[in-house]
Amino acid sequence: MEQLVSQNTSPRRVAIVYGLRTPFIKSGTLFRDLSSLELGKMVCDELIERTEIDPSDIDKVIFGTVLPSIKTSNLAREIALGSGVPASVPAFTVTSACSSAAQAFTSAAETIMAGDSEVVIAGGAESISDFPVLFSKNFRSMLFDSSKGKGLLQKAKPFLKMGVGDISPDVPAIAERSTGLTLGESAEIMARRNQISRGDQDEFALRSHTLASKAQKEEIYRRELLKTYVPPNFDEPIHNDNSVRDELSIEQLTELDPLFDKEYGTVTAGNSAPLSDGACALILMSEQRARALGYKPLGYLRSYAYAASDPREELLMGPAYSTPIALDKAGLLLKDMDLIEIHEAFSAQVLSNIRAFASRSFSEEKLSRAKPLGEVNMDYVNVTGGSIALGHPFGATAARVILTLLHGLQRRQANFGLATVCAAGGLGVSVILERE
Ligand SMILES: CC(C)(COP(=O)(O)OP(=O)(O)OC[C@H]1O[C@@H](n2cnc3c(N)ncnc32)[C@H](O)[C@@H]1OP(=O)(O)O)[C@@H](O)C(=O)NCCC(=O)NCCS
Repeated sequence: MEQLVSQNTSPRRVAIVYGLRTPFIKSGTLFRDLSSLELGKMVCDELIERTEIDPSDIDKVIFGTVLPSIKTSNLAREIALGSGVPASVPAFTVTSACSSAAQAFTSAAETIMAGDSEVVIAGGAESISDFPVLFSKNFRSMLFDSSKGKGLLQKAKPFLKMGVGDISPDVPAIAERSTGLTLGESAEIMARRNQISRGDQDEFALRSHTLASKAQKEEIYRRELLKTYVPPNFDEPIHNDNSVRDELSIEQLTELDPLFDKEYGTVTAGNSAPLSDGACALILMSEQRARALGYKPLGYLRSYAYAASDPREELLMGPAYSTPIALDKAGLLLKDMDLIEIHEAFSAQVLSNIRAFASRSFSEEKLSRAKPLGEVNMDYVNVTGGSIALGHPFGATAARVILTLLHGLQRRQANFGLATVCAAGGLGVSVILERE
């Protein structure tokens, strides 16, 4: 309890003043002509407008992304300049798979806690529709040699040895370099190892859609969403996530074929998060600056922790490793959490992590802790749906999870919440937030 009081009165307590996101849109559909830069700029523009912050009060801009464009390698800088943040304000881009926006968020918090900044915009943006495609290594070598050639002949010479295969595109896979497995294949391994049945996975996916659909009807997401207008006509406003299925039944989910192990698998398109485009950003301030500028924050950062495990062993178990550390740092227990937002990459991953929270053997063997965190009360988990229904723009999701949690705590007048995200590479991040 003493720890609780001392943290709450810290002079460099970090306040989250406001946040916004675009709708999360199934890749290849309504946002297909927009880049990560355009999506990020939309949220940053609107964040500045709605908060009426003077752009010259902003000290830094940090964005996360997973599939970087070579044309905008420092995405955050381009977003900041495009949104009217003064050119003198530094901006940087971070990438750590699906936890990228959490990394942006905690980097923003760190610079505030260290006294280097008072006001920071942090978020994430991703257009999976606009994924980068490379030429083959051979063809890129030829282009490089050609660029060094002096005359037309020398420039053409490297291409004389070109084979048909050299011009085939090198498309990025959603696979781990270290394991050679796609994340879906790893989710299959988790499902088998943790005995998460196909039925349980489909039930969890159905829950995600049912809760998200209810939240959409009750306009719960309205506070975190901005209306977007897209090319070519910019006429029809898009104001909702478009992967949520209103009339989904368990039968429809049961009918879907497994995708990653066609013979014996249990992971399907229905119990996985869909590929999506979108952006989300938050504005963080020192508590003092927020007060001085007259803002009423959505909530405050209490603690956070990152953890990593061997991706060859347990790819998406990050939350089970990072949550105990974040709770310890907060001086709180799992049962103190009034709400939990956990990123839903796959039903199998969420259910495996929740099982690990309660598992004595996981706690003893993997965490060297005598006691497990405890059983999770599902009444407090992803109460307005999660990534399986809402969508998952890789670089933006973690900011969405934090923002949704903050709004959930406000709506319920509850105090403590846990936001946790697994990420490729065996990474996990947990953020503890408090409303007061
Ligand atoms: C799982 C995945 C491969 C599916 O991709 P996809 O095949 O393009 O998915 P689609 O949305 O086209 O769905 C395939 C089919 O399932 C159906 N479907 C998808 N979700 C459904 C649902 N909830 N209920 C019923 N049907 C559903 C679609 O309608 C489609 O049917 P159709 O072929 O008759 O049109 C892709 O979403 C993916 O890779 N997700 C995981 C991303 C990932 O790795 N994330 C990182 C985690 S950290």
